[in-house]
Amino acid sequence: MPISSKTFSFEYTLHSDEKQLPQEFQMLIHQAKDITQKAYAPYSQFKVGAAVLLENGVIVTGNNQENMAFPSGLCAERVAVFYAGAQYPNEKIKAIAIAVHPENFRVDQPLAPCGSCRQALLEYELKQEEQMDVLLTSQSGSVIHIKGIQSLLPLHFIEERLKKS
Ligand code: THU
Repeated sequence: MPISSKTFSFEYTLHSDEKQLPQEFQMLIHQAKDITQKAYAPYSQFKVGAAVLLENGVIVTGNNQENMAFPSGLCAERVAVFYAGAQYPNEKIKAIAIAVHPENFRVDQPLAPCGSCRQALLEYELKQEEQMDVLLTSQSGSVIHIKGIQSLLPLHFIEERLKKS
């Protein structure tokens, strides 16, 4: 007999147009879209951009960087948050916008981050003890807005004993 059974659910809002969002989110989305153009994605031609808004108002952007040895590349989201972590280690991340611009087809559904990026983003959210807004965009203009990373990664890896005192 199991001890208990649990159901997990999470809430997000879907907007048909980014113009329905606050100005600062619209600006962040534009920066994420712009930076897709500079992605280095010669193998997938799937260009992704991410823009991170910090508490001090600075916006840090990143895009996917691929490599001939495939696993050596990195997703746009991690390029952006790792750069933010490196340059502004004490600034909280208020929001992240993710955009996509594949060369050979259209993406009409908002792009969701991969599992590794969710784990990386979660680390910063736990560290700053404040939820970040996540904005997933598509090429049709629709946007998914999620409050916090934790809901994107139920039963996530967390091991307090790794923090040696
Ligand atoms: N990619 C990202 O940059 N972010 C995601 O959330 C999903 C995938 C990149 C990795 C690779 O360069 C390309 O998209 C195809 O998977």
